[in-house]
Amino acid sequence: IRTIGVLTSGGDAPGMNAAIRAVARASAYYNIKCVGFYRGYQGMIEGDHCVLNARSVRNIISTGGTILKSARSKEFMTYEGRKKAADKLSEIGVDALVLIGGDGTFRGGQTFSEEFNIPVIGVPGTIDNDIAGTNFTIGYDTALNTVISAIDKIRDTASSHNRLFFIEVMGRDAGFIALNSGVGAGAEEILIPEEDLGLDRLLESLRRSKRSGKSSSIVVVSEGDKIGKNVYELADYVTENLPNYDVRVTVLGHMQRGGSPSCFDRTLASRLCVKAVELLLDGEKNVMVGILNNEIKATSFEEGLKEEHGINKELLRISDILST
Ligand code: F6P
Repeated sequence: IRTIGVLTSGGDAPGMNAAIRAVARASAYYNIKCVGFYRGYQGMIEGDHCVLNARSVRNIISTGGTILKSARSKEFMTYEGRKKAADKLSEIGVDALVLIGGDGTFRGGQTFSEEFNIPVIGVPGTIDNDIAGTNFTIGYDTALNTVISAIDKIRDTASSHNRLFFIEVMGRDAGFIALNSGVGAGAEEILIPEEDLGLDRLLESLRRSKRSGKSSSIVVVSEGDKIGKNVYELADYVTENLPNYDVRVTVLGHMQRGGSPSCFDRTLASRLCVKAVELLLDGEKNVMVGILNNEIKATSFEEGLKEEHGINKELLRISDILST
């Protein structure tokens, strides 16, 4: 392998820059050329790229977002789009790829690699943490810290006004952010897609907490929750059924994706990406790298993208006990 291409794709996540830096620096260390593609797969299709040497990635380890930009390319989902991308790679002379992103990024990369015989390594970068082949994805820890600092602030005003807040957090189809931030911020209830609490139980729990003398409450709702209502409808439903609650809604939204990455995310990104480059040099292909029980390991895309991604439901029990 003489040239490695790197890109960031899908929703951005804090720590992606640390990951790009690690790919560029590890490539330089092993005397390999490194090329960055802009806007994920779309940049690859268009041949929109830059050379990344060790100095081009200076001072980015601490920054949020991604210097390579990110996108969800519709064109890459078609064979024609992927063919154009493969042609661009041979034109530029890229022989292998490091793909930083989430499950969609990995699925696209796997198909591409099988169709055009280009070795790819996936590096999990998404705030959602919804990838089975790793205990932690890059960006998740930072997002959690952003969420709990926001909830702490909301708690201040909730308490001053004796209010009940529904706080919606990200996590397209997964409840990792809601579950862990909910426990970390001491939420009353946590609603996640992996566990249907049911509206009756929610009302009962809120009644109970009022009876126990609580004057304000926080309910953390994952955006992917399947309780059958969006967070505003949920708040209306609770207001109708529990008129003695003064209810407000906060949707945290994209602030969860920004900000300087935590030390954990920077270190994780650095470890995963050095491993990704080393795997390519060892002739490995079509795997993702992840951290499993504190070891950096390669896992096949099939295994790494399994539906069952191991959310820790025990945390719901902990939350129940602690919100008593
Ligand atoms: O996958 C990361 C994520 O932030 C999800 O949590 C969220 O559902 C989605 O991306 C939002 O996507 P977009 O930025 O395209 O609105």
